[in-house]
Amino acid sequence: MNKDLILKLSNNIRSELIKIRRQIHAYPEPGLEEVKTAKLVGDKLEELGLEVKRNIGVTGVTGLLRGEKPGKTILLRADMDCLRMKELNHVEYKSTRKGFMHACGHDAHTTWLLGAAMILSQMKEKISGDILFLFQPAEEGPGGADRMIKEGVLDNPKVDAALGAHVWPDLESGKIGLTYNSMMAAPDMFKIKIYGKGGHGAHPNNTIDPISIGCQIYMSLQTIISRQINPVEPAVLSITQFNGGSAHNVIPDNVEMIGTVRSLTEEMREFIPASMEKLIKGITKANGGTYEFKYIPYYPPVINDTYMVDIVKEAGGIILGEDNIYINSVPTMGGEDFSYFQQKVPGAFFVVGTRNGEKGITNSLHNPYFNIDEDILPQASAILSEAALLYLDKNKS
Ligand code: NI
Repeated sequence: MNKDLILKLSNNIRSELIKIRRQIHAYPEPGLEEVKTAKLVGDKLEELGLEVKRNIGVTGVTGLLRGEKPGKTILLRADMDCLRMKELNHVEYKSTRKGFMHACGHDAHTTWLLGAAMILSQMKEKISGDILFLFQPAEEGPGGADRMIKEGVLDNPKVDAALGAHVWPDLESGKIGLTYNSMMAAPDMFKIKIYGKGGHGAHPNNTIDPISIGCQIYMSLQTIISRQINPVEPAVLSITQFNGGSAHNVIPDNVEMIGTVRSLTEEMREFIPASMEKLIKGITKANGGTYEFKYIPYYPPVINDTYMVDIVKEAGGIILGEDNIYINSVPTMGGEDFSYFQQKVPGAFFVVGTRNGEKGITNSLHNPYFNIDEDILPQASAILSEAALLYLDKNKS
């Protein structure tokens, strides 16, 4: 049993992890600019004796820990980037960089993965195979996972499975949440431009009013969700920008609508834009206008592998107790680029509860008052360590 040793080692690094997390929190860096964070990570991994590679996909870092016995390779992943927003927390480790904040908890992800490296580097004789610790840039955009995969992080050694986790303020600290199959959506984006014919607001009959066309399109696009898709299939279409016009008495030449589509399957990612274009084309034509439609696919949906979720469930049960494993049956429509790893190897993404009402830690992700219960740091390190060892033990060659 590794449990007692992992718990002991994770307990020993508790204060060091809190120190590291606060250091990263105070110096948040946005996507592809994670220079200081990556240096901290790379230096720590080197200090632990791992084989370190830096500047992968701009700022990504990996550390390879070779076990003393042969076996498979499992990848454990964290993201390092912050958000472009102002922190309003009054804590001693508050962001020192104006307009940047770790409000999505990636400071915690980076820290707990370093914690797992600290634990597992002291257990080499128990490891059958290799463990690749991967710290990616730019999860919040423009995407770091894909960049690192393109630079070959899944080859040499060939990675067989992947695990990743996210802080979750809806769940109590001390619990983890697991989702089988579809967990998070593909967060795609679209742009619609409607061209009409501008003119005087007093004489609409002499114009082709793109605002009127845009409104008809706005209304009808929701019927894709409400009338064309099976009601039990989750899908979201939101228009979040609708721009046009310059004066109260001028009908503009064109308008632009921008928004997001969230869906859980590749089939939906083909069906929805095709349906959108049919409606846009028909309505624009009927009104005498023209259009441009761009659908920009972002990250694929997060779809968890059942076997890998079971590994996390078992590991979580060992470290936290089975009562603290929450099985979530409903996906969330947020996105995550961990999905790129899952397109290549079986993987599971899970959430780590960070909510602690007694400590006043209840704010949501991306909120200027977001914070975490730091007690979860050594726990998450322990769960990832246990899960990696379980996977490698069960798949010994
Ligand atoms: Ni995040």
